[in-house]
Amino acid sequence: LVPILDFGSQYTHLITRRIRSLSVFSLCISGTSPLSTITSLNPKVVILSGGPHSVHADNSPSFADGFVEWAQSNGVFVLGICYGLHLLVQRLGGEVRVGEKQEYGRMEIEVEKSCGILGGKVGDRQVVWMSHGDEAATLPNGGVAAVEDKYRRFFGLQYHPEVTHSPEGMETLRSFLFEVCGVNAGWKMEDVMDEEIKVINNMVGPDDHVICALSVGVDSTVAATLVHKAIGDRLHCVFVDNGLLRYKERERVMETFERDLHLPVTCVDVTEQFLSKLKGVVDPELKRKIIGKEFICVFDAFAKELENNLGKKPVFFVQGTLYPDVIESCPPPGTGRTHSHTIKSHHNVGGLPKDMKLKLIEPLKLLFKDEVLQLGRILTVPYSFLKRHPFPGPGLAVRVLGDVTEDNALDTLRQVDEIFIQLIKDAGIYDSIWQAFAVFLPVKSVGVQGDQRTLSCCCSPGCYKYYFEREFLDDVVQKICNNVRGVNRVALDITSKPPSTIEWE
Ligand code: XMP
Repeated sequence: LVPILDFGSQYTHLITRRIRSLSVFSLCISGTSPLSTITSLNPKVVILSGGPHSVHADNSPSFADGFVEWAQSNGVFVLGICYGLHLLVQRLGGEVRVGEKQEYGRMEIEVEKSCGILGGKVGDRQVVWMSHGDEAATLPNGGVAAVEDKYRRFFGLQYHPEVTHSPEGMETLRSFLFEVCGVNAGWKMEDVMDEEIKVINNMVGPDDHVICALSVGVDSTVAATLVHKAIGDRLHCVFVDNGLLRYKERERVMETFERDLHLPVTCVDVTEQFLSKLKGVVDPELKRKIIGKEFICVFDAFAKELENNLGKKPVFFVQGTLYPDVIESCPPPGTGRTHSHTIKSHHNVGGLPKDMKLKLIEPLKLLFKDEVLQLGRILTVPYSFLKRHPFPGPGLAVRVLGDVTEDNALDTLRQVDEIFIQLIKDAGIYDSIWQAFAVFLPVKSVGVQGDQRTLSCCCSPGCYKYYFEREFLDDVVQKICNNVRGVNRVALDITSKPPSTIEWE
């Protein structure tokens, strides 16, 4: 395990991911963690991230007292990156000064071949990505890009090896971990799966029952499949059809759950319950809150019903929380990076009702999304399911702008969305697109269809960061207007995020 002490760099998570991609497990922890937290991980290597601070500023964050001495006396290798380097240089008695000029962006550095951390397979000069104001100054020849004290095992890089703009950065990290520090690569998703199954089996008693809310998304499905592998049919999943799903979505996902994954799933149809609560509601935040609350009522009812059937209360609740969600809820020290402004009340289907008093099982909470997909493949979750585009918890309610119960809006949108997505699949571009979907606009436009004047709805297919061919778009427009009654205009959304958000509400 390689812990990354996070001092608030935008790139900290990237370092973690790069190291994992070398089959070495890595975790981000707060840069100011107590020494006991670091020592309890028993690491061979510790990395200090960059950060937005200057070591000269008051209250700039630092590692715990005694860290340097502990590392030295235990033979631990320490690599400081950017701000991490400055901290290390300062603590080791060197000088960090405000650079004559600040360096942001692409730079070329000269490689001193005797330098272990840079001297691997990289060339004599390499292009690197800098982003700093301070610099380590006591070493000669001005700008220092890399430092090392082989004897005491302290290393530092002024630039960011983890970003793709430093083309030889991965090679530098690789040679640092394997050649300089002698770390063993051996972290594999198969082992993560076995380890998680053990953890779940230790947690859940032999008579305990567990519930899980399945959405149409990948995370809850992978989490449920893993827990099912561990405890079998003491897992009880619920899939909620709230009337806000896409065309034939319920049938399609239920088939995957049952036929391909053999998951024990109860499907509850609560369309009326949700749509009656949403009737006349046009405020996006209010919609989201109502939906979140209704989900909780449904889970509550499911838990009670289960208790009646089993004669026993379920004890645990499975959630597909991912590592980025965990990191986001613990902002790094001194960055002021907190959830200050609510743009949208995102809710994951499966928010835990307080009065249910269930204990949480979060088997994916140390994994990034691409690692969850890898785990899903090992668990034989079908590829077509893993590659599905994201779909928001509040469903089509945030894609029908305004009142979702008005004018057959949901049905119209389902048809438009299905045509658009099917054409994307037929064109073979679905897997190259992060997310594509249609929205229903609450406006009416004048058109001519079959020689008659129409006053109908408009829809907008949109797509996150993908540029369609004009011919493809013509086909989309023609198929939608010819096949979906009540739509006479299609407008294309090409705005990026920001200024927009992906979902329109
Ligand atoms: P926005 O619209 O905020 O969306 O740019 C970013 C990503 O999150 C999805 N999304 C949600 N997912 N619950 C979810 O589970 C929600 O309430 C929610 N709202 C948006 C959205 O589809 C996009 O992929």
